[in-house]
Amino acid sequence: MNILEIIEKKRDKKELSKEEITYFIEGYTHDKIADYQASALIMAIYLNGMTKQETTDLTIAMANSGEKLDLSSLNEVIVDKHSTGGVGDKVSLILLPLVASLGVPVAKMSGRGLGFTGGTVDKLESISGYQTDINIHNFVQNVEKIGISMISQTLNLAPADKKIYSLRDSISCVESIPLIASSIMSKKIASGAQKIVLDVTCGSGAFMQSKEKAEELAEEMIEIGRLANKETVCVLTNMDEPLGYAVGNSLEVIEAIQSLKGDMPEDVKDVVLELGAYMVKLAGKGENIEENTARLLKNIENGKAYEKFIQLVENQGGDSSYIKDINQFPKASYIENVYSQKSGYIQSMNAKEVGKIVCALGAGRIRKEDSIDNAVGIILNKKVSDKVEKEDVLVTIYANSKEKLEEAKKKLLEVIKIEEQEIERPKMILEIMK
Ligand code: URA
Repeated sequence: MNILEIIEKKRDKKELSKEEITYFIEGYTHDKIADYQASALIMAIYLNGMTKQETTDLTIAMANSGEKLDLSSLNEVIVDKHSTGGVGDKVSLILLPLVASLGVPVAKMSGRGLGFTGGTVDKLESISGYQTDINIHNFVQNVEKIGISMISQTLNLAPADKKIYSLRDSISCVESIPLIASSIMSKKIASGAQKIVLDVTCGSGAFMQSKEKAEELAEEMIEIGRLANKETVCVLTNMDEPLGYAVGNSLEVIEAIQSLKGDMPEDVKDVVLELGAYMVKLAGKGENIEENTARLLKNIENGKAYEKFIQLVENQGGDSSYIKDINQFPKASYIENVYSQKSGYIQSMNAKEVGKIVCALGAGRIRKEDSIDNAVGIILNKKVSDKVEKEDVLVTIYANSKEKLEEAKKKLLEVIKIEEQEIERPKMILEIMK
């Protein structure tokens, strides 16, 4: 067997065997297969797809590519959460301290930005000192000590996914059901959780643009979860416009802090509470979804979720004075408003286009080794269905280059569609699949 034969087979739309998939994953993980060969195979998978069997084999091979975390010392049901990605998606930053404040242990390995979407790790790293790459021992110890740890994929867990994830990002091969399902589920299998709640985003700012595609992805992940003996619940959520008001790393952390202090955008709240209620249920800490929602809301109101976030930041070496005083986050050099050119109601704000505009400001990567600018991004002043008057502020841009600022202004005006007719606030929770 050699990699050229495997590439050729997938290029010619043939089904790969378990042995061929394992050969590729092992070879690529240990640098025996070059990036350009892996790129060719990933592109062939992207274009020609995979059968369910191939996707399962790919997931298992990726999960087996490194260590598997044993969280049994925690003596608790560990429920993990993951999102299929979105624009303005700061849900993990709010949801995970929130459920931890209710006694649901959180051992979370997050990702970096992918394509036009942001990543929780990049956001956490905008907090000065926050260590996302701690060792396994400290990771488990943190969960034991304060009930939560949030880290990056730096441990040797599903290392094949880590390599393929950043490769896909740099060769435009992200939006693929087998690649997303295997990426997410391999990490979940390796990271030791018994149960999984997935936020399957759907719409212009998600990798799955239609509800049918999101359902297909959810079904595939639920099936992999069943085979791996990990109960999996998928919450399909709306990602047609950016989630919340902030898009950009430190701007989203600031919005998460404000949310934990009780000032949470309605759309973010809908998503956080639904996912949280299922996490509490799967953890065996509350059967009733409505009651769980009420308990989550209470822990926002009484400050316990916010306190848990501060504890998390301090425990991971972060400077919590940033959280207590958000003015400490470095500011972009240019902060300018975009004004509406007409009156009416916001009809749409294509989240993918907004994500691309924010990436172009410097918040995302073009090459996998690129560094990102945490201070840049946008704050929306209006959401879909809001009324606007001519000259109202639509959005504030945070940029570190005049040229990029001007480009963002022009593009945002094209992306934000305003018409005379009123429309309803979009529904956020589209479906629950188990
Ligand atoms: N999140 C992941 O971890 N992987 C993907 O492919 C997409 C979103």
